[in-house]
Amino acid sequence: MACSIEEYIPGVIYLVEYPIHFGGMDLFSRMTIVRLSDRKLWLHSPCKLDAALKSEIDRLGEVAYIIAPGNFHHRYVADLQAEYPNAETFLCPGLEKKRADLRFDWILGNRPDPRWEPDFEQALIQGTRMINEVAFLHKPTRTLILVDLLENIGDDYTHEAGLLLRFWWKAVFHMWNHPKPAPEYQLGWGDKEIVKKALERILSWEFERIIIAHGNLIETDAKAVATKAWENVLKA
Ligand SMILES: [Fe+2]
Repeated sequence: MACSIEEYIPGVIYLVEYPIHFGGMDLFSRMTIVRLSDRKLWLHSPCKLDAALKSEIDRLGEVAYIIAPGNFHHRYVADLQAEYPNAETFLCPGLEKKRADLRFDWILGNRPDPRWEPDFEQALIQGTRMINEVAFLHKPTRTLILVDLLENIGDDYTHEAGLLLRFWWKAVFHMWNHPKPAPEYQLGWGDKEIVKKALERILSWEFERIIIAHGNLIETDAKAVATKAWENVLKA
């Protein structure tokens, strides 16, 4: 399947949805491309590029940063590095061990790199057992960018959802039509006090939409949707 770029926030944020096969399920993931205030490109949760997609990206500008924002979102980092050898790679903590084969320049933390500080705020989700990520707030557009802290799949999902996906989402995790964290979060919140602090920090940010990796974007009542989805941890 050929993937192409959707211009989401004109001139600033671009999205690419791409199919993945994970845990026996077929679903989609999403790459986010942000044009920073210095005009350089920041590629978040990258997908595999074909020639057409690469030329679309190259028309947007210079790829300066490759971001692997979660410990489950690293699959195509090496492909991107091969295409953009001068870009710097930033990994979610833990990936340096899980993917010891990956070359990287920096580990992401709670503070933005000084070069993208005008554009982003960021928060590390830690204390969890299986899955973690770094959340980003794109300040100029009030856009929260997550990967797995919220998934939004239900009747209005813009892709076909297979039987296995429907079973897990409906019968097991009760997250069909109800945006919730990825199952790997729900199965092991770990130290909820630590996680809660990070979620509260995210909720203190000014945002009006949420880009997520799996499912439909959250563009209405975004902060209320996130608060509801994370209520089990926030109440801890
Ligand atoms: Fe994911």
